[in-house]
Amino acid sequence: MDKKRVLTGITTSGTPHLGNYVGAIRPAVEASLTGDFESFFFLADYHALIKCQDPEMVNQSTLEIAAAWLALGLDPNQVTFYRQSDIPEIPELTWFLTCMTAKGLVNRAHAYKSAVQLNDEQCEDPDFGISMGLFSYPILMAADILMFNAHNIPVGRDQIQHIEMARDIAQRFNHHYGELFVLPTAQVDDDSAVLQGLDGRKMSKSYGNTIPLFLTEKKLKKHINKIKTNLLEPGDPKDPDSSAVFQIWQAFASQDEIDYMRDAFAQGIAWGEAKKKLFELVNSQLNEPRERYFELMARPEEVENILSVGADKARVHSSALIAKLRNAVGLRRLS
Ligand code: TRP
Repeated sequence: MDKKRVLTGITTSGTPHLGNYVGAIRPAVEASLTGDFESFFFLADYHALIKCQDPEMVNQSTLEIAAAWLALGLDPNQVTFYRQSDIPEIPELTWFLTCMTAKGLVNRAHAYKSAVQLNDEQCEDPDFGISMGLFSYPILMAADILMFNAHNIPVGRDQIQHIEMARDIAQRFNHHYGELFVLPTAQVDDDSAVLQGLDGRKMSKSYGNTIPLFLTEKKLKKHINKIKTNLLEPGDPKDPDSSAVFQIWQAFASQDEIDYMRDAFAQGIAWGEAKKKLFELVNSQLNEPRERYFELMARPEEVENILSVGADKARVHSSALIAKLRNAVGLRRLS
């Protein structure tokens, strides 16, 4: 039997941080190395344009994110690793799907609804600041997924609704034009850590509380020292489970190291000492990837080559499917 296809995209609108690593990159790379799946990982740069209209930033972020995945062990020979905008069949499929998608379905998308609600609260016009890109975001995402007939889509909780929409859209399309798409399933990994940021909230670019993945040692230490703690003194027992320091430790440590730190908290380890140990642990794991990352950042043409090979691999699938789809919807030669 053919292997199940796993597919996920990473929006290229920021600098990768520790939360991206433990929540998405590490589990995806590990799963791809088992050889149990056929993996498709891509840089969602069309999606980036929805949030980010700074061309240099989109370009830089694409390089940073590609270099980060490669530096962290993604093997482009084992997976299909490509850039969304290198696949012209995706925008074409987006249009086919757009014409088969009820507007009412998209009206229900959380991201769009919360933008409308925010306008409402601020007594603005409901459509204020909302582009058609933001509105149609779930359809572009459905095209990403359906283009490669992917079965499992590893995503964060916030994306589950989008996968369900992709499924609905595929179902409607299949019903009308014949069985052309695999129905995808969201795969939410409850074990993969949602990391706390510097302020104790979820680490997220939108909260400005991230620790970037690839910093110089000095800067990494500085960021770790900024993690919010409380006023407990050295010697005072501390609660590990409410501490971002402990939680980040847990995401990087072995079971023995976790037990050790839990004990140290009970014994009243000083915050400064706990942070120093956290820095040493995280740094020891990022040392090697950091070197590879900076090498790749200095040679963008190498990353470009890898992506272009990935695009060729991806297009073997996408061009075959788009030919079938064009035929199915009636975009055919006249003779
Ligand atoms: N929207 C996703 C996010 O912001 C990124 C993404 C784009 C994606 N296309 C996708 C994820 C297809 C999974 C499948 O996280």
